[in-house]
Amino acid sequence: MEQVVDEYKPGMARHSSGGDEAILQVASLTKRFSGVVANDGVTMSVMKGTIHSLIGPNGSGKTTCLHSISGLYTFDEGDVLFEGKSIASLKLYEKVRIGIARTFQHAQIFKELTVIENVMIGEHNLRKTGFVGGSLLLPRVLKEEKESQREALRILDWFGMRHLAFAKSGDLPYGYQKILEIARAMAARPKLLILDEPAAGLTNTEIEQLEQILVKLCEAGVTILLVEHDMRLIMKVSDSITVLDSGRVIAQGKPEEIQNNPQVIKAYLGDRRAG
Ligand SMILES: Nc1ncnc2c1ncn2[C@@H]1O[C@H](COP(=O)(O)OP(=O)(O)O)[C@@H](O)[C@H]1O
Ligand SMILES: [Mg+2]
Repeated sequence: MEQVVDEYKPGMARHSSGGDEAILQVASLTKRFSGVVANDGVTMSVMKGTIHSLIGPNGSGKTTCLHSISGLYTFDEGDVLFEGKSIASLKLYEKVRIGIARTFQHAQIFKELTVIENVMIGEHNLRKTGFVGGSLLLPRVLKEEKESQREALRILDWFGMRHLAFAKSGDLPYGYQKILEIARAMAARPKLLILDEPAAGLTNTEIEQLEQILVKLCEAGVTILLVEHDMRLIMKVSDSITVLDSGRVIAQGKPEEIQNNPQVIKAYLGDRRAG
C-alpha cells in the first residue's frame, strides 16, 4: 500500500469529469423479509464519477440495498437502473459484465490461494473461457492466462501490493486482505464499485490508506457506492450521502448538509458504533 501513499498528493483536483449524469438510479426499492421491511421505498441517484455514501444505524437496511443492487437479492418492489436501463432482471455475473463490482461486509477472499490468484478470479469473470475452459491446456487458454496474470500484476502494482503477489492471502494482515478484495473487484474493470464497510476492522493508518485508494480510484474514473460506519472517512471522501433509518431514506445531501441534519443526528444517537 506504500506506493499508493507515495503517489497520492493531497488536494489533487478530483471528480473533474463527474457529477451531472446518474450512473445508478434506485427507484422506490422495497425489500421485505418475513415481517421486516428492510428497504421501504428507497430512492437515490449515484452520479457518475463521484463517491456516494449510503449510511445509517445498524439494521437500517444498507447491506440489503447493496444486495438488491448487485443482484444477490431479488427485491419486492421498485427498480434499479444502471446507465439508464433497468438491471432488475440481470443475474449477478451479468451485472459484473456490464460494469458493476462489489466487495462484502466481511472480507471474502480465498485464503488458501495466493494474492495474484485472488485478483485473477476477479478478472476471470470477464473472460470467455472461465475456469472450466481454463483447465484445458489449449493455446488460446494459455494465452488468456498469461494476459490475465499480467493484468493482475498491473492491478496489484496500482494498489501497492505487487510485492505480495505470491504470498498466501490468508497470511496477509487483515487490512491487506480488505484491500485485496477491492483489488479483485477492480480486476473486473467496473464502472461502479460497491463497497460494504471497507474500513471495518482496519487500523487508523490502514483507514488513511483506504481513503487515498478511494480518492485515487474515483480520480481514475470509477464511481463508488460506499457503505461505511467510519464517519470521519465518510465526511472526508463523500461527494454526496444518502441516510437510511429503519429501511427509509431520511436525508440526502452533501457531507456538510448531512452532518448537521437534526433527523440524522437523532437516528444515530441510539447507535453506539457511530463516532
Ligand atoms: N437475510 C435476511 N433475512 C431476514 N432478515 C434480514 C436479512 N438480511 C437483513 N435482514 C433484516 O433487515 C434489516 C436490515 O438489515 P441490513 O440490510 O443488514 O442492515 P445494515 O446493513 O444497515 O446493518 C434488519 O432488520 C435485518 O435484521
Ligand atoms: Mg450491513
